[in-house]
Amino acid sequence: MPREREQWATRSGFLLAAIGSAIGLGNIWRFPYVAYESGGGAFLLPYLIALLTAGIPLLIMEYAIGRRAKASPPLAFRGLNRRAETIGWWQVAISFVIATYYAVIIAWAVRYTGFSIGQDWGEDPEAFLMGDVLEATEPGFVSSYVSGVMWPLIAVWVVALGVLVFGVRRGIERASKIFIPLLVVLFIALVIQALTLDGAGRGLDAFFAPDWDAITDGSVWVAVYGQIFFSLSIGFGIMITYASYLRRRADLTGSALVAGFANSSFEILAGIGVFAAIGFMATNTGVAVDEVIGEGGIGLAFIAFPQIISSLPAAGDLFGVLFFGSLVVAGMSSLISIMQVVISAVQDRTGMPRVPSVLVVGGAIALASILLFPTSEGLYILDAADHFVLQYGVAMAGLVSVVVVAWVLRQLPALQEHANSTSAVRLGWPWLLTLGLITPLVLGWMMWDGLREELAARYEDYPATFLAVAGWGVAAGVLVVGVLLSLVPWRRADQLISVASEEGRS
Ligand code: ALA
Repeated sequence: MPREREQWATRSGFLLAAIGSAIGLGNIWRFPYVAYESGGGAFLLPYLIALLTAGIPLLIMEYAIGRRAKASPPLAFRGLNRRAETIGWWQVAISFVIATYYAVIIAWAVRYTGFSIGQDWGEDPEAFLMGDVLEATEPGFVSSYVSGVMWPLIAVWVVALGVLVFGVRRGIERASKIFIPLLVVLFIALVIQALTLDGAGRGLDAFFAPDWDAITDGSVWVAVYGQIFFSLSIGFGIMITYASYLRRRADLTGSALVAGFANSSFEILAGIGVFAAIGFMATNTGVAVDEVIGEGGIGLAFIAFPQIISSLPAAGDLFGVLFFGSLVVAGMSSLISIMQVVISAVQDRTGMPRVPSVLVVGGAIALASILLFPTSEGLYILDAADHFVLQYGVAMAGLVSVVVVAWVLRQLPALQEHANSTSAVRLGWPWLLTLGLITPLVLGWMMWDGLREELAARYEDYPATFLAVAGWGVAAGVLVVGVLLSLVPWRRADQLISVASEEGRS
């Protein structure tokens, strides 16, 4: 019995969805602070090198795996080799975890869009964030719930599941056609406003001036690769899933190039906007650009931005609504794509129709998210889980998938042929060389270096037990779940694979 797999209605619909997935919190919230923490200009050159030597080639590989198999990651990897299925389930488990906390950052941004009108954070945005908004106590396990985060979080989940219930074409594709143009308008307005600020040029100098010494700093490279993977949505199965809904004849490599470069252009635009605002802040307070913000990480969006907004000479409220509104819109389309990885895997695995699988799977993720994160400890659980699941989940799964596909299964030539059969841009030896050699070596070294640093110092000095559960435990847990799920026998799997390969050949 051939199964019916949904398809994108149009190529532009697919591209908007793929771009919507890639452009997310990673671009607006994460990229600027990672770049800032790595010393601004130190970041840009390694970023471009990593984009070309790992990001884009891997993106093309994931598109080819997904479109060829016409299946979610577990089944797609199983189609390459029975034992490779574990990689797919590992990615599904990673997406499950990321979705639970990703939604919470969107919920914070929803609240801050409201706070921007009237600049409710007052004189001390840090105290406002930690005390009034998050009611944060200290790293540990759930002790009390914070209703001011809980309600927007529930709303985020209702919207995300509401879109997913309508499926790929009527839900995700249509929503992307609204989200992406809206995001572009909001963001361009924001960047223009930022560039007109006094001192914007100082911030841009810090962002663009290359720092050649940084090329030899391992930690900058570690940060760069983590960022590229998160931002391009690679390593957690999203692009395999989205490409599985592509038509047989759709241009593959061209689509990957458009999506990849659109994402990075937006990311650099976000960097320009944020560094221009930081330059303004430095000029305003009379300190150096690299000292303007003590708090890194989460603080850059939710502490530094309110500070900047409050010191603007005019239209601060509008600037705030544009910034946090962009964060909400960009985050929603990415959250939806992360959810779709888990939903499509369960659909393939069980044959469950779309609506019940959205409600059961989406409901389970939403419940985990609502139980863990709108709490006094939610910020710390999020921070630890994010760090470990990115480093030892997303980036590690990316590394393992490329090593297995290139070296163990030797599938790169077949994937190359598959991509070239329908693409205007043809993949040649540079693609094979990059994925076969450069990506595994650089990524492998980066993982090793990162692990050494990790073991040398406890992340953020969090208590050891807390880190063992919320950090290492989560990273190990997603792998164990991946292995266990791949041991459960499928009754329909081989039938599904043979249908997909029939379709692939036709
Ligand atoms: N690619 C998505 C982001 O950048 C997950 O946030």
